[in-house]
Amino acid sequence: MKITIVGTGYVGLVSAVGLAELGHRVFCVDTDPQKIEILKSGRATFYEPGLDKLLKKNLANRRLSFTVSLAQVIDQSEIIFICVGTPPQPDGSADLTYVKQVAASIQTLSKQGKIVVTKSTVPIGTGAMLEQILNKKPGRVFEAVSCPEFLREGQAVYDFFHPDRIVVGADKQSVGFKVINLFSAVKTHKMVTSRETAELIKYAANAFLATKISFINEISNVCEKTGADVEEVAKGMGLDKRINPYFLKAGIGYGGSCFPKDVRALRQLSGGNGYNFRLLKAVIEVNNKQRQLFFEKIKKVLGSLEGKKIGVLGLAFKGNTDDVRESAAVDLIKKLVKAKAKVSCFDPQAVANARLVLNGRIRYCANAYETMEQADALIIATEWPQFAKLDFKKVKKLLRQPIIFDGKNLLNHQLIKKAGFSYYSVGRS
Ligand SMILES: NC(=O)c1ccc[n+]([C@@H]2O[C@H](COP(=O)([O-])OP(=O)(O)OC[C@H]3O[C@@H](n4cnc5c(N)ncnc54)[C@H](O)[C@@H]3O)[C@@H](O)[C@H]2O)c1
Repeated sequence: MKITIVGTGYVGLVSAVGLAELGHRVFCVDTDPQKIEILKSGRATFYEPGLDKLLKKNLANRRLSFTVSLAQVIDQSEIIFICVGTPPQPDGSADLTYVKQVAASIQTLSKQGKIVVTKSTVPIGTGAMLEQILNKKPGRVFEAVSCPEFLREGQAVYDFFHPDRIVVGADKQSVGFKVINLFSAVKTHKMVTSRETAELIKYAANAFLATKISFINEISNVCEKTGADVEEVAKGMGLDKRINPYFLKAGIGYGGSCFPKDVRALRQLSGGNGYNFRLLKAVIEVNNKQRQLFFEKIKKVLGSLEGKKIGVLGLAFKGNTDDVRESAAVDLIKKLVKAKAKVSCFDPQAVANARLVLNGRIRYCANAYETMEQADALIIATEWPQFAKLDFKKVKKLLRQPIIFDGKNLLNHQLIKKAGFSYYSVGRS
């Protein structure tokens, strides 16, 4: 099948490369000419394990191509995927400007009717609205379909080929199955639903995962008051198959480009439809409070942060990605800088992106050890696995005082305390 993908960010590029690898011919379009030039040269524009290799392979076998011109490729494909951003507006609702722009361009440029699939996360009713834009003029019939994306950054390529499910929402079942069939080589649960249901599945899934995180973070706070250990509580809970062990990791709260945005958007769209989704208000509050509580913990131990030298490990919102959107690590560094601490930081992949969002006198280090030279404390803010494998004898020598704040509960707290560190984590004493 010939497919056009509009938007080559995390979702669009991974989908494009994945669909090409499944044997489809994929034309990719993005308005950012710099991005397109880099992609044409066979380099991914963000860090995602395994992506570069498949990108190069499918460029070489000519199943993948990149352009800034939708007009050039639109009539070569039967199915168009919209994968552009839907950033939050000040009231929390999703901004559909880019999605609508793409639909309007398709409407103007396409000679024939097509299936237009939305992979961007969009509010319920967007599919119906897009179909109206697309079918503004009679003579061609466009079908708007929802195919929400569930990939996890850091494992996105794996997730493309091994998803837990593929959901397609369409008004006509035959159209839904045409889209599902693009993924016939992928063995997983496949669901064809109404468009509205598919759109809501995406928000409901993300809001539920965020709720699990806020729930275990609340439990971590009870642990700190009572002396219980949140890691063991989570393990004991997760062994119950009805609960499962995933997303029960206490820490400094969820971040990233999706959870914060999607939880707020679901709350806002529920309100807009006359329903007050009370639970989500609490989920958001707990997440914000969790970040603040960790900062307070640091201040309680170190006293005034003015002039204190702090090493921070991690800038990305989670390990294995270079994405810093809504990163709790970045948020924490902003708080430290505001309190006049001297921050030295390191991240294996996210420094370039962090530089774009962080201001102030921050030292970006070439490796983890550099951040902690003569520092008053070390903070772990992202769960990169290599941070757990540091030489802690060396860490102790480098720090001015052996204090570690672990916002991700990455280290074994018994071992690290035994090694002579004053160690503060989340929900463990
Ligand atoms: N990143 C994730 O983990 C993830 C997972 C699931 C769903 N989503 C959803 O997918 C959507 C895209 O997310 P992302 O992280 O890939 O965004 P992104 O910001 O990484 O990429 C969006 C891309 O769209 C391009 N673009 C914008 N307007 C365009 C236009 N008119 N024509 C062509 N290209 C245009 C931008 O230049 C950019 O490259 C969002 O709705 C997001 O919520 C993201």
